Amino acid sequence: MENPTIFKAYRGSFLDFVADPFFVPELDSIRYIPDGLLIVENGKIKEFGSYEHLQPEYPDLEFITYSNKLIVPGFVDLHVHYPQTEMIASDSNQLLDWLDKYTFLTESKFKNLDYSKQIAEFFIDELLKNGTTTAVVLAAVFRESVEAFFEAANQRNLRMIAGKVMMDRHAPEYLLDTAQSSYEDSQKLIEKWHHKNRLLYAVTPRFAITSTPEQLHLAGKLLQEYPDVYLHTHLSENLNEIKFVAELFPDSLDYLQVYEQFGLVGNQSIFAHGIHLSDSEFQRLSETQAAIAFCPTSNLFLGSGLFKLHQAKSKEYPISVALATDVGGGTSFSLLQTASEAYKVTHLQGQNLSGLQALFLATLGGAKALKLDDKIGNFDICKEADFVVLNPQATPLLTLRTQGKIPAQTREEIADLIFALIILGDDRAVAATYILGEQAYIRNA
Ligand code: GUN
Ligand code: FE
Repeated sequence: MENPTIFKAYRGSFLDFVADPFFVPELDSIRYIPDGLLIVENGKIKEFGSYEHLQPEYPDLEFITYSNKLIVPGFVDLHVHYPQTEMIASDSNQLLDWLDKYTFLTESKFKNLDYSKQIAEFFIDELLKNGTTTAVVLAAVFRESVEAFFEAANQRNLRMIAGKVMMDRHAPEYLLDTAQSSYEDSQKLIEKWHHKNRLLYAVTPRFAITSTPEQLHLAGKLLQEYPDVYLHTHLSENLNEIKFVAELFPDSLDYLQVYEQFGLVGNQSIFAHGIHLSDSEFQRLSETQAAIAFCPTSNLFLGSGLFKLHQAKSKEYPISVALATDVGGGTSFSLLQTASEAYKVTHLQGQNLSGLQALFLATLGGAKALKLDDKIGNFDICKEADFVVLNPQATPLLTLRTQGKIPAQTREEIADLIFALIILGDDRAVAATYILGEQAYIRNA
């Protein structure tokens, strides 16, 4: 028997991107419909346009109306550690000390399946509460931690990418796998979860320091055997890290070459941070169409440095960049707050990042970095209906700042509204989150 067709429809002000605002005039990159209608059929977008034009075609349609709100595509978090949820905001020196002092011990708890399930649920609740509908997630080294995460994400029909951390050296014994066991565990997880409903797998060596050449070689082998899985790791985040990598891999000319040597750099590769990349590394990332996860709250919190967003978005060697929280190195699950810090990071370098550019990096930019822009990222017909209802009057201060501008009448007004939402907004500005057209989170008034 065929499943019955389920229709859902939503009326409100919609904003999404149809082009990259770093490369076209930004007001031309958006699609803003002050009074729009979104019709969802079995979780996918069937129709999208102005209410005035579409409604007559569906005279009997029932719809939910969001007044004085702004509906945008679900946010994408391009790099986040779910086992680090409980250690967010832990004070320490920079990256390597922070890993030693808190991270490894915390991640050791994720050998336990029940504990992993509990935190996976908490983590997903937190994502949805912040409007994040897709994330690229590191689990821990233990297979159980990945099982728990995928199980929880699958139950909620989420489009998620995750993987088992591979690490076979330079970490406490209790957290190490071996090259062979990491290969076999990853293989089993890929077979079980990759393309199960909306889930996808990322081969996830933690970073060059914690993997032997043999393990990186086997990570490359996995990518060859399963050509459409992702590669997800850290790259060039911290100066002491880079120094140590150079000692461990003396034959590599730079950090990126370590990964290149093992066949880990391609158009499905996601590298977190990339703070201290050379011009040559930027160029090679551009040529291979790999993506960088820009994690401003983490980079500021851990004192890693300022990501050169404008070099990454150069016309000559453009790189696919999207925003990421990097919790627990990052300090917030909110992509709005993350965008706000991204703005400040560019300002410290004498550059500017507009509100619309930042919102692009949290939506269509994330979908493009994942090469999933045929499935998510905006309101194009046939895409999966994951979206967020933002409330520009979520707080008294936001109300004061945005009064009289909702719904925005012009593109300039919408750009200003988005900027204010990014700088002042957080989870309170997320009124509801929808997954495949179904309400997955609603904020209590
Ligand atoms: N590099 C290797 N592991 C980590 C981690 O857990 N967090 C961050 N921010 N960087 C890393
Ligand atoms: Fe990280």
